[in-house]
Amino acid sequence: MRIMIIGSGGREHVIAWKLSKSPEVEKIYCAPGNGGIAQIAECVPIDVMDFDSQVAFARENHIDMTIVAMDDPLVGGAVDAFEAAGLTAFGPRANAAILEGSKAFSKDLMKKYHIPTAEYENFTDAQAALEYVKTCRLPVVLKADGLALGKGVLICNTREEALDGVKTIMMDRKFGEAGSCMVAEEFLTGREVSVLAFVDGATVKVMSSAQDHKRALDGDQGLNTGGMGTFSPSPFYTEEIDEVCRRTIYQPTVDAMRAEGRPFKGVLFFGLMLTADGPKVLEYNARFGDPEAQVILPRMKNDLVEVCRACIDGTLDQIDLQFEDNAAVCVVLASEGYPVCYEKGFLIEGLERAAAREADGYYVFHAGTKKTDEGIVTNGGRVLGVTAKGATLKEARAKAYEAAEWITFANKYMRHDIGKAIDEA
Ligand code: AMP
Ligand code: GLY
Repeated sequence: MRIMIIGSGGREHVIAWKLSKSPEVEKIYCAPGNGGIAQIAECVPIDVMDFDSQVAFARENHIDMTIVAMDDPLVGGAVDAFEAAGLTAFGPRANAAILEGSKAFSKDLMKKYHIPTAEYENFTDAQAALEYVKTCRLPVVLKADGLALGKGVLICNTREEALDGVKTIMMDRKFGEAGSCMVAEEFLTGREVSVLAFVDGATVKVMSSAQDHKRALDGDQGLNTGGMGTFSPSPFYTEEIDEVCRRTIYQPTVDAMRAEGRPFKGVLFFGLMLTADGPKVLEYNARFGDPEAQVILPRMKNDLVEVCRACIDGTLDQIDLQFEDNAAVCVVLASEGYPVCYEKGFLIEGLERAAAREADGYYVFHAGTKKTDEGIVTNGGRVLGVTAKGATLKEARAKAYEAAEWITFANKYMRHDIGKAIDEA
């Protein structure tokens, strides 16, 4: 089988790595890919939003399946473009990826189908939003409706912050067009957990849970980022909670989308808050998480190609999805200054050492790297996802931090408390 992946980060690297383990896969392409992906796939310089070129490339190169791994092309209709050309693509169509593309849509869907989530109001008029936040309960959470790289969420503790927040999102359009509509919602407290599931339009198969660390600095301080590290599974996501989520959130969401004429096929990511009133949905994503995929896929026993095909064919009920009974931790090595501004182009050393230890459960997934004549250099804010598996979360954490020290580059920055909550559990 010949497969193409659309995307260029650590998530796409771990997807390519997992596909490379399938006996069915003979060749992997990635558009556009990165320095690490290039070691296992042929990277082709096609933009993630250039669907015409992707489709033409897939035709010319006899690609059997294209995995659209990123939010922007999914929301923009990449899967629809492949299907219109008679080609096979994995991921939701645009009319289902809207679960991630519009927070207002997803909130209204949850309300209509009684799926537990924070109380909210949607606004398209800035004046009405300003009036609302003058009297609403605090803290209030303000969210730009559309895609904003995970950064369009403001938690406002004071009246002044809330008024400023409306201005930032709706008037100054700091997150661009994503802010033409805004959701204001109740602030929830509890443990956050990410649960990803394969979905074939009707059947849901839940993967092992994970937890992200979104803030830039230790102790959950600093700015929101794309994710500074993850661990899997989450010790807080118990079997009882899983049972409640399946009954009140996962299956109801998939059934709701089908009832709305928007069947969801692909990976559905539930961002959950485990509150005192039970689990509630914070957000949906229409794809694997990054860096959640880095701790989930290395623990998955199944052949990823088979599972993706079952999602596309509507035969997911026949798949017995299985995970190893162990744990994984991913520590993101970033460029100092991320997520605001940072320098790129520094040589990365020590990558071979982790690569040689894959059999012992060490992996390095590249996020922002580039292959040059001198070697692999840094090429983004998040540079590498250093990942390790262990019998326990504690062991996986110790191994991931051990491997993080093997790798050096100028301006290397990481959090030191990824998975620390585990020790406190
Ligand atoms: P989202 O992109 O909607 O997941 O929001 C990004 C982050 O903001 C989440 O991971 C939470 O940490 C936080 N957040 C979002 N919504 C709420 C809420 N209603 N209450 C508390 N925190 C929230
Ligand atoms: N790590 C969060 C996300 O992928 O959206």
